[in-house]
Amino acid sequence: MRNLVNILDLSIEEINELVMTAEDIMENPEMYADSARGKILATLFFEPSTRTRLSFTSAMMGLGGQVLGFDQAGSSSAAKGESLSDTIRMVSAYADIIAMRHPKEGAPIVASRVADVPVINAGDGGHFHPTQTLTDLITIHKKKGRFDNLIIGVCGDLKYGRTVHSLIAAMSRYENVKFVLISPEELKLPDYVKDEHLFTGGCEYVETENLESAIPSLDILYMTRIQAERFESREEYERLKDSYELTASKLVMAKEDLSIMHPLPRVSEINVDVDDDPRADYFDQAMYGRYIRMALILMLLKTKGIDDRRTNGIESKSLVCKNPHCITLTERGVKKLFNEEGNCIYCDQSAE
Ligand code: NCD
Repeated sequence: MRNLVNILDLSIEEINELVMTAEDIMENPEMYADSARGKILATLFFEPSTRTRLSFTSAMMGLGGQVLGFDQAGSSSAAKGESLSDTIRMVSAYADIIAMRHPKEGAPIVASRVADVPVINAGDGGHFHPTQTLTDLITIHKKKGRFDNLIIGVCGDLKYGRTVHSLIAAMSRYENVKFVLISPEELKLPDYVKDEHLFTGGCEYVETENLESAIPSLDILYMTRIQAERFESREEYERLKDSYELTASKLVMAKEDLSIMHPLPRVSEINVDVDDDPRADYFDQAMYGRYIRMALILMLLKTKGIDDRRTNGIESKSLVCKNPHCITLTERGVKKLFNEEGNCIYCDQSAE
């Protein structure tokens, strides 16, 4: 089977295929109503979720399949001290495909190494969120009709915002995509995302703290929530939480065909007075999430016999990942694996 841990697990061609399938499902839902009949999706959410879990559930139901799972770690055996690997081994025997969200970065790689069914990363800590990116990509396709020649502003919490990390990884593969990274100094995009995606992709970018001055140049403005749950200190969160608020009056100088996106949930970073602006695309974006997840489930269910378990990496008994949120620090018996640059293969951050 194939897994979706990182958005780059999908080629550009596969992304195009998913977007086309999702658009076809939207137009002809009845043709897909039995496509996953007899199949079971497990939704394992060790962290809160509304859209992602419910859109996965609704996607599987729309394909005629069934769903089981839990929506908080406290209602699973994780609360009794069970390791993630053991939970996943069990669930592999009860379901045909797994969508999981976990607070630890790299958790889906641990899962995919022991699962006998496809594993989908529905968000791992502040690391990646590839199915949100598929949702973002179909929205960009619908609203802009292209993935290249775009100036994309991403604003808010670029440090902990996993949707931003996956979006940048995905978009840096297209021609002439430029990023305007708008954040307070403390919440700048981490180096591992810059190094692996912006530099490798040869992608131009600028960093700024000023949303207003960036707006006029943008084709897409991707707003994000300040990720309260990931801050080390409550005071720091309180100080930064109101860094940005997009309001209708700030959009006066924006392009007429700007697309305003947000993975949601929003707190105060987009004022409700923006909701009636025809450029506000975030509710459509959430709606597309169901269809692209239907396309993804269908694609992965068809990949029996393919095995893409991560086997790369050099095992080290002495190196320790220095990311305090890495799954390798808490999961028992996990092999500590690093690439040649000394980065942890689970969470991409560097070792001590
Ligand atoms: C995002 C997430 O969970 O990372 N939500 C989502 O899946 N749509 C964004 C967020 O929580 O801020």
